[in-house]
Amino acid sequence: AVKKLLLLPGDGIGPEAMAEVKKLIAVMNTQGAGFETEEGLVGGCAYDAHGQAISEADMEKALAADAVLFGAVGGPKWDPVPYEVRPEAGLLRLRKDLELFANLRPAICYPALASSSSLRQEVVEGLDILIVRELTGGVYFGEPKQIIDLGNGQKRGIDTQVYDTFEIERISGVAFELARTRNNHVTSMEKRNVMKSGVLWHEVVSATHKAKYSDVKLDHMLADAGGMQLVRWPKQFDVIVTDNLFGDMLSDVAAMLTGSLGMLPSASLGAPDPKTGKRRALYEPVHGSAPDIAGKGIANPLAMIASFAMCLRYSFNMIEEADRLEKAISAVLDEGYRTSDIMSEGMKQASTSEMGDAIVAK
Ligand code: NAI
Ligand code: MG
Repeated sequence: AVKKLLLLPGDGIGPEAMAEVKKLIAVMNTQGAGFETEEGLVGGCAYDAHGQAISEADMEKALAADAVLFGAVGGPKWDPVPYEVRPEAGLLRLRKDLELFANLRPAICYPALASSSSLRQEVVEGLDILIVRELTGGVYFGEPKQIIDLGNGQKRGIDTQVYDTFEIERISGVAFELARTRNNHVTSMEKRNVMKSGVLWHEVVSATHKAKYSDVKLDHMLADAGGMQLVRWPKQFDVIVTDNLFGDMLSDVAAMLTGSLGMLPSASLGAPDPKTGKRRALYEPVHGSAPDIAGKGIANPLAMIASFAMCLRYSFNMIEEADRLEKAISAVLDEGYRTSDIMSEGMKQASTSEMGDAIVAK
């Protein structure tokens, strides 16, 4: 069957990183992989072309695709554009309309880069953990959400943390399923000591575990203690499942365990289609459009390439190919190839394109 990919390179270094993934797709297609790609505009470039951060036509393509590969959006050029059509609005629209409720952020420490982590080498060497963050609920979206004028020179800012049973069930289900393909261990993080939503989170994760996933080891940890443990000894974790706010912060902490922003992939998954069983999905690097280096051909394409590896794994069940691609990243780093963001003494300076070529050759 053909595999339909929508490529949304976006702005800044987005297209530069995506060009390297296109090389991989082309090579895989000569070996019969059967990818069918379409391309669309998102972010500032979409605004320039038709005044919207993503067009209805491109939204339709995204809904029809098996997976979306997203580069990055934004840049100073679009700082003045109206809020509703700012570049980020394109990404938020995609997440919302594709109902991407599960955000997967791996933190992998490649052996060749272990010494450049901000932590001691023994703490991060061989690290391979996955944070599963709930992406469409919680305090970022709950109502009421407003600033009230109290009239006495005081104002009140309100955000509301709301989680329903089905939201916790489906995100923990994703975490347990992923754990089964990894080291079979889930740690759930909330703050049930001070939050009612945390009490419910703990209860529903435990019930979901008992009902369907009792073969997986489950631990619970308060989210603040989790932050501490993540820095103290991150290798104690396999899969961490947590809410939108804690997940936002914990995944950024985990990111810094492994070094550069240019290395970090992510996936956002939706519910399985009841007919086909396929999940909607969007894959993107964690980094932004990096306007400071855009157009220079020096961006690190490995975060985008690793995002494509996640796409192979999670959208197309191409486990062997995903493993090979991830091993190629590791091997190319072992051989000393470095883009400028991860450059260190005695290594081989590579441009974006040279890094991509090295991966393709592997
Ligand atoms: P950024 O991630 O674009 O850049 C932060 C720093 O890391 C910069 O110095 C940049 O050169 C470097 N960097 C990032 N990715 C790199 C790569 N692949 N290779 C080498 N160096 C890399 O974040 P920043 O500067 O805060 O935001 C820039 C623009 O990107 C803004 O318009 C922001 O809104 C947007 N942005 C978009 C995101 C997305 O599309 N999902 C996520 C984060 C920011
Ligand atoms: Mg964040």
